[in-house]
Amino acid sequence: MTGSANTGDDPADGWFPESVAAGYDDPGGANAPEIVTPAVDVLEDLADGPVLEFAVGTGRIAAPLAARGVPVSGIELSRAMAARIAGKPGGDAVEVVLGDMTTTRLAGQFSLVYLVFNTISNVTTQEGQVDVFRNAAAHLRPGGLFLVELGVPDLRRLPPGQDTVPFAVEPGGGYVGFDQYDVVTQRFTSNHVTVSPDGTGRFRRIPFRYAWPAELDLMARIAGMSLKYRWADWNRSEFTADSTKHVSVWEKDPNR
Ligand SMILES: C[S@@+](CC[C@H](N)C(=O)[O-])C[C@H]1O[C@@H](n2cnc3c(N)ncnc32)[C@H](O)[C@@H]1O
Repeated sequence: MTGSANTGDDPADGWFPESVAAGYDDPGGANAPEIVTPAVDVLEDLADGPVLEFAVGTGRIAAPLAARGVPVSGIELSRAMAARIAGKPGGDAVEVVLGDMTTTRLAGQFSLVYLVFNTISNVTTQEGQVDVFRNAAAHLRPGGLFLVELGVPDLRRLPPGQDTVPFAVEPGGGYVGFDQYDVVTQRFTSNHVTVSPDGTGRFRRIPFRYAWPAELDLMARIAGMSLKYRWADWNRSEFTADSTKHVSVWEKDPNR
């Protein structure tokens, strides 16, 4: 069973329909102030004029950034997710356009385009991910910045012959999460199994494509950008061989 079965969800909302959007802003997790605030701090610091968030979701980051006075626009595929932005402090000021971040073009030039929370992996082909970089560059003024937050692929946890990495197993058995990798196509699926106390269950399978930092650098180059910063987190810690994620910033050629 997938997320949209029997829920009345709109298939046009993709993997983030109403049934997912309804719980997306629950307190804690990625919505905790200790997660959101450092990201907003970095984005505010990098912004030097209007900014654009690709896959803006419910405005988890865009709304608090706009509340600090930064002019924020966003592109989002899911109407159900985007509908939640305006109700948040700062959200009224966010200009939201429904569309696909690989192709949708907004008028104007931006100082910063950003794409956080692993969301470039929701684009499941290399070609599509290159299009994300190209579209980011097309929105940037010369010298503008493109920031991506993305996990480092977990492949060091895959022994030869195995394709599955568990990332969550609740002691009581109520929730099990595991990623399943195809190292040929670089596609993977995140699998979420939730079992309620009455024994009924839900199984969601979401497709992704992983990419190494070096592959993203090449995509940036194709799009006319070069690496300016690579940090291990929003506190700008040094990126090392043991980092599990990165926050990378590329600069558009100042002469283009
Ligand atoms: C994990 S959420 C992140 C939302 C928000 N950026 C945040 O940090 O909370 C991923 C979002 O990406 C959106 N999305 C996925 N693929 C997209 C695409 N090709 N174009 C625009 N939005 C997309 C989904 O609808 C969803 O709202």
